[in-house]
Amino acid sequence: MRVQLTNDELLSTTRVVRKRLDFSRPVERDVLEECLELAVQAPTASNRQEWHWIFVTDPVKKRQLGEIYASDEGEYVGLPWPELAPEDTRAARSEAVQDSAAFLRQHMGEAPVLLVPCHLGRVDNAPIATQAALWGSMLPAVWSFFLALRTRGLGSAWTSVHLRNERRAAEVLGLDYERYTQGGLFPIAYTVGTSFKPAARRPLAEITHWNGW
Ligand SMILES: Cc1cc2nc3c(=O)[nH]c(=O)nc-3n(C[C@H](O)[C@H](O)[C@H](O)COP(=O)(O)O)c2cc1C
Repeated sequence: MRVQLTNDELLSTTRVVRKRLDFSRPVERDVLEECLELAVQAPTASNRQEWHWIFVTDPVKKRQLGEIYASDEGEYVGLPWPELAPEDTRAARSEAVQDSAAFLRQHMGEAPVLLVPCHLGRVDNAPIATQAALWGSMLPAVWSFFLALRTRGLGSAWTSVHLRNERRAAEVLGLDYERYTQGGLFPIAYTVGTSFKPAARRPLAEITHWNGW
């Protein structure tokens, strides 16, 4: 299945999808591999390509990862959210995002597939440039993966709170925590309908700087 979108439509309508993930419809492995082939065109520092992509379809492991995600330490909605003026575009969406996030918290383990991207090395106490090299060598590919999913009628939700319990997730995945950093937990499913809208974002005038701050 292909969703016909212009490049600009693809870039402006690829959303974090939670309530519109269809947990009842299976996801074919070859579609995921197709999306990953595209995603790994993303750049990596020194062209290392030390990324690994763990797809989880095993119901027991998905349930365990879902429990880790939903544990209190990982509560996304309970994190401090920014204080926003009522006219701020983000304020209007805040309640809907939190409601949708609460839904995902209950259902993460039911997604047909969970993805945990990993990268060789740990940067827990590393200089910022080293941290940037690791995250920058993993997360651009994850977003490309989201874009590829969207063109095929699938979607995902960007989540990172399970990393508060990263070690427990590593045990579930049989991953060497001391050697590999996980980048997030991504539920993958076909979306219910394929029509998504651009989101309201902060005006460029507030966030753009020319020739300095
Ligand atoms: C680094 C990062 C971490 C995030 N972590 C979570 C999370 O743990 N749980 C969740 O439901 N959403 C999470 N989100 C999704 C954000 O809430 C979402 O990107 C934001 O609301 C904008 O969504 P939109 O692009 O669909 O408007 C995360 C997003 C990013 C970029």
